Amino acid sequence: MLENTMSFLPLLDHPLKAVAFAILAVLTWLGWYPIRRWRYRSLPGPFGLPFLGNLPSLASGDATEFLNRCIAKYGNVTKIWFGTRPWVVVAEPSLVRVDFGTTDDDDPGQGGGGQGEAVGGKAGAGAAAQGGDAASAGRALMHACTAVFRCLQLENATVYLPLQLIFPSLRPIIRWLAAHLPDRAQADNMSARSAVASASRRLMEAWQESKAAAAAGAGEAQGPAAGGAGSVFRSVGGGISGSSFMAAMMEGRRGAGREERLSDIEVIAQGFTFLLAGFETTADTLALAAFLLATHPEAAARLQAEVEAMGAGELTAELLAQLPYTDAVLQETLRLYPPLPFLMREAREDVDMGEGRVAPKGSFLALQIHAMHTSPELFPHPDRFMPERWLPEGRAALGPADPHAYAPFGVGARMCVGYKLANMVAKAALVRTFARFDVSLHPRQPLPLRMRTGLSRVPADGVWVSLRDRRAGAPPATALATAAAPPPADS
Ligand code: HEM
Repeated sequence: MLENTMSFLPLLDHPLKAVAFAILAVLTWLGWYPIRRWRYRSLPGPFGLPFLGNLPSLASGDATEFLNRCIAKYGNVTKIWFGTRPWVVVAEPSLVRVDFGTTDDDDPGQGGGGQGEAVGGKAGAGAAAQGGDAASAGRALMHACTAVFRCLQLENATVYLPLQLIFPSLRPIIRWLAAHLPDRAQADNMSARSAVASASRRLMEAWQESKAAAAAGAGEAQGPAAGGAGSVFRSVGGGISGSSFMAAMMEGRRGAGREERLSDIEVIAQGFTFLLAGFETTADTLALAAFLLATHPEAAARLQAEVEAMGAGELTAELLAQLPYTDAVLQETLRLYPPLPFLMREAREDVDMGEGRVAPKGSFLALQIHAMHTSPELFPHPDRFMPERWLPEGRAALGPADPHAYAPFGVGARMCVGYKLANMVAKAALVRTFARFDVSLHPRQPLPLRMRTGLSRVPADGVWVSLRDRRAGAPPATALATAAAPPPADS
């Protein structure tokens, strides 16, 4: 027996062979990660390739649909391999609402550091234009943010991204390489982030200058600039609204101890997070609501009737709160197409998932919101667009079987902070659009709608609708609205 076991030894009779053997053994170990497989043995899920895990399946189509298929096949608690890292995918309302803890805010997308660090690249720190015109800085910021959003799409990702996913333990080295030997995608990303930092600094400087001028001009009536009194706070200008959270962050720096004060780069990173979290999500929701209404004329007619009954006056928060059908349309849009279809958490400790299934401490948990929203056990006729399920008359028959089955804005401590604003903005845009236009599908729209999941889940070919102005005398011209995908070259 021992002889048999040792029979491979002649293969190692040369140092090079021994080195090759050792490398093979290490690669096998790294690629197969037997200890990790053993720790996650209680969770069912699809077979994962060495190193790559289920990344090929996730990347070859819509990742959300792949996760939904896994849930359908293996149950509401499933394991997939994200490279060498297991993800526990959860689509059970009673488990989704558990406070697991959170993921760190690392930026796995681009290997260039966390958000604060990445936004504040060296070029950004040095490139702040002194006292620039606030409006042009505002436009520059908008362009820079658009460029960063583009860089964050998976198809524009650096080659360091898959490397980081496949070899998470080599992350510090890969990050160093990405920062010092960037490929084209990484270089674009770094320069776009530097441009965000630079434009943001111009805005902040303009704000500070105008605030100082306002305080000097106001004299005693407003109190000293350093006092941070409410009246001074309201009078600021320089491109930043005095009542905005941006101004609050900058104002909060006055008088605060050095350690408590937000640095420039922290203010910029916070601002950027809000733009990133709020812009694409709301735009996607509006585009998909337009698509659903264009394909469900009876729902569009009911919404239009509600909007017309409201009258043509100024939109106020009170008026917007009195639009139950418009609300229901948005809720149903977010049920079918939550822009963030799964939410990531990290388990602070071993989590008992019931039926002998355990997610070990440190696990990445993907709370699969989309699978819950479209589960036939939780929503009757889950694939149909039925806004009435959110109205009093439809709730009993069509509403969610479990109140926690619906979570487009997330759950718990990390729930979306902008959800009220998002609802108001989206409702106001729907009201204004449907008050004036009839919306129908444009022939350019490919059907069925194809979705893809990147930073958020968006229509892969955009949304194309025709707008017909209903006002008397308006030209019968067709306008095109598109979202989420670049328009074809001929438009
Ligand atoms: C339809 C529009 C929106 C949807 C569907 C949406 C959805 C979400 C979801 C699902 C989360 C994660 C919650 C969790 O992990 O439990 C989130 C986080 C967040 N949202 Fe929204 N959101 C929307 C609009 C907005 C707007 C307009 C803003 C700000 C103006 C905003 C700011 C944020 C911020 C700051 C976070 C936290 C990010 C973090 O913790 O890293 N969101 N949102």
